[in-house]
Amino acid sequence: MMNRMGKDIVAEFEKAYHLPNPELHERFEFREIRVEETDQAAEMEYICFPPNEACTREMMAERIAKAPEMFLVAVDRETGKLAGFLSGLSTDEERFRDEFFTDAGLYDPDGKNIMLLGLNVLPEHRGQGLARELMYLYLRREQENGRREVFLTCAPDKIEMYRKMGFQDEGISDSTWGGSLWHDMRCVIRR
Ligand SMILES: CC(C)(COP(=O)(O)OP(=O)(O)OC[C@H]1O[C@@H](n2cnc3c(N)ncnc32)[C@H](O)[C@@H]1OP(=O)(O)O)[C@@H](O)C(=O)NCCC(=O)NCCS
Repeated sequence: MMNRMGKDIVAEFEKAYHLPNPELHERFEFREIRVEETDQAAEMEYICFPPNEACTREMMAERIAKAPEMFLVAVDRETGKLAGFLSGLSTDEERFRDEFFTDAGLYDPDGKNIMLLGLNVLPEHRGQGLARELMYLYLRREQENGRREVFLTCAPDKIEMYRKMGFQDEGISDSTWGGSLWHDMRCVIRR
């Protein structure tokens, strides 16, 4: 479970924030997505991101159909509705490229790495550690699945958030998604 630096990043993340948070597990169920939740996920994408950055319903539907196991959703146990989700695709590629957003055909179930494609929490559920819990559970699950590295792109104002989740800033990305400026971030979860 050690990375190249001899550190288990996921274990450090777990320890630093006393994860998992039992209170959140009482209120939310964490599991892979179901096809019938496609509309909720697509709608949440437009609530969480401006239209130029949001994945279209079509892209989301394709990703859910091809790789439901690469999603982790938090379902409000009271309402049965999605409160947040994290999604990605596994691949043997080692560099993020925007085609991962648009082409779920790039999914390689046995891929050693993960390209994360979206972390979304609905406004009414923010500020309670749900994004952190989703990231922790996702990294733990994929570490157990034998994955090595996890990549994402983020806006400059999210670098600190992801740094606290165990990611390193790799500088300005080649990504031009939505015409914005992005940073590449990387987390080594296994040697
Ligand atoms: C960003 C987002 C996922 C955070 O969800 P959340 O459940 O409120 O986050 P958490 O409560 O788990 O907070 C985790 C940490 O991130 C920080 N954080 C939360 N929202 C943040 C934001 N908008 N900008 C910067 N840091 C943020 C928190 O301060 C917290 O840090 P702490 O350890 O110092 O307390 C949510 O606001 C969202 O969906 N935003 C729109 C979509 C988005 O921007 N996604 C990220 C794309 S790069």
